[in-house]
Amino acid sequence: MASKRGSWKTRYGFYLLAIGSACGLGNLWRFPYVVGENGGGAFILLYGLLALAIGAPLLIAELMLGKGTRRSVIVATQQMSAKTGVNFRWVGRLAVMVSIVVLSYYSVISGWVLHFLTQFLVSLFSSPEQLTDKTNLAALMSNGWLQLMLASAHILITVVVVVKGVQQGLERWIGYTMPLFAVLVIILVMRSFSLPSTPEVLRFLFYPDFSKLSWDSINHALGHVFFTLSVGFGTMVTFGSYMREEDHVPTAGFRVTIVDTVISLVAVVMIFPVAFQASNVPLTDPALMFEVLPKYLLGIRGGTLFGLAFFACLYMAALNASIGLLEVVVSNWVDAKKEMERGKATWYSGAIALMLTVLPALSSSIFKDIRVGGRSLIENLDSLLINWLLPLVALGILIAFNRGVSDKEKELGFVDKDKFVSYSMYPHWMFVLKWAGPVVIIVGLLLQVIGVFVA
Ligand code: PHE
Repeated sequence: MASKRGSWKTRYGFYLLAIGSACGLGNLWRFPYVVGENGGGAFILLYGLLALAIGAPLLIAELMLGKGTRRSVIVATQQMSAKTGVNFRWVGRLAVMVSIVVLSYYSVISGWVLHFLTQFLVSLFSSPEQLTDKTNLAALMSNGWLQLMLASAHILITVVVVVKGVQQGLERWIGYTMPLFAVLVIILVMRSFSLPSTPEVLRFLFYPDFSKLSWDSINHALGHVFFTLSVGFGTMVTFGSYMREEDHVPTAGFRVTIVDTVISLVAVVMIFPVAFQASNVPLTDPALMFEVLPKYLLGIRGGTLFGLAFFACLYMAALNASIGLLEVVVSNWVDAKKEMERGKATWYSGAIALMLTVLPALSSSIFKDIRVGGRSLIENLDSLLINWLLPLVALGILIAFNRGVSDKEKELGFVDKDKFVSYSMYPHWMFVLKWAGPVVIIVGLLLQVIGVFVA
């Protein structure tokens, strides 16, 4: 059975997929405003700590679950249920449900990226003044149908790529555009560092003021760690199932975590000086990046071309992450229902995502008066998915892994006798799986519940 499953000829293929799925809008768009919302430095510290101490070990566990069972999360958790007699089926199903809802929501934001991409393209042939009006985010926000159209276009592109089975080729291609993206980002970081707001920004970002943390900060940090590392979706279970026998899972998991965390930090130092400069924009707003960056780019020499290249690369990253999300839904569907064809499953999943996307796409226009707790629909959806459901699913997968995979198997998968770090880290990893991980997730959820009542 296992031989029928695709696996890569080289290690490079795995890294392209795993890093491609991890690094996306979560790092560049979501992380900066979550940091803004939670008061800066202290939150970044908390986030970094949780990414390394909890995120990486759980990522390794998901990969190992996939590699061991050679199945996606639904069937893998079914196997854990059969082995232990405990019902873990809901975990796999919930993970896939979360994936498809996240895809519909992610598509709206990818649609915003598409919007700015096309605007920068158009502006190459028109005057910058015209562009200033069009790149105005408020115009996009009030136009729900445009957002819905862009999100639908994004879903369609994602479905076509997955149906045609060209993602391996495309991913490689996307992989090649990423060095260009890195160069663009480094240039932007250097430019934004030359702005007068930099000292103030550095104080905000790297001088921890713990009084700024609130009851729900742990879960905001933890939820974002899971979101950005693609943990709690079953994504990494699927990717693990494609790994080669000889690949060392902990090394892979650790590298993905490091790359992803570095990119998030770079995103923050790129956006914040510009955001502080344009002091009218609240740092806590999900629109932060889209509000300040296009305006800033338009003001500098060669900014239009730069903006075009930047948003093109950003779109590639968003597309790659979306392909990962859809791929997981499809691979689960095909694994769980043998008679289901891959192509059909992909179209059906796309259709479901398309239906679900209506709500977030129209959140800032037609549904703008529907507010819960003072926040818009899309913000509430984000919070429900990322701060509540993801930690819950991640906890479920963790418990299924703990119970269903014996300690001997864990040791075999983790310890490489030739690598000192691997056997010295093994007891720490086990400690996180059995104690620290579940305790931190449960405490985070409880504090968040308290936060709801205190607020
Ligand atoms: N990790 C991605 C990001 O940060 C989001 C994602 C989650 C993508 C799960 C695929 C699967 O943007």
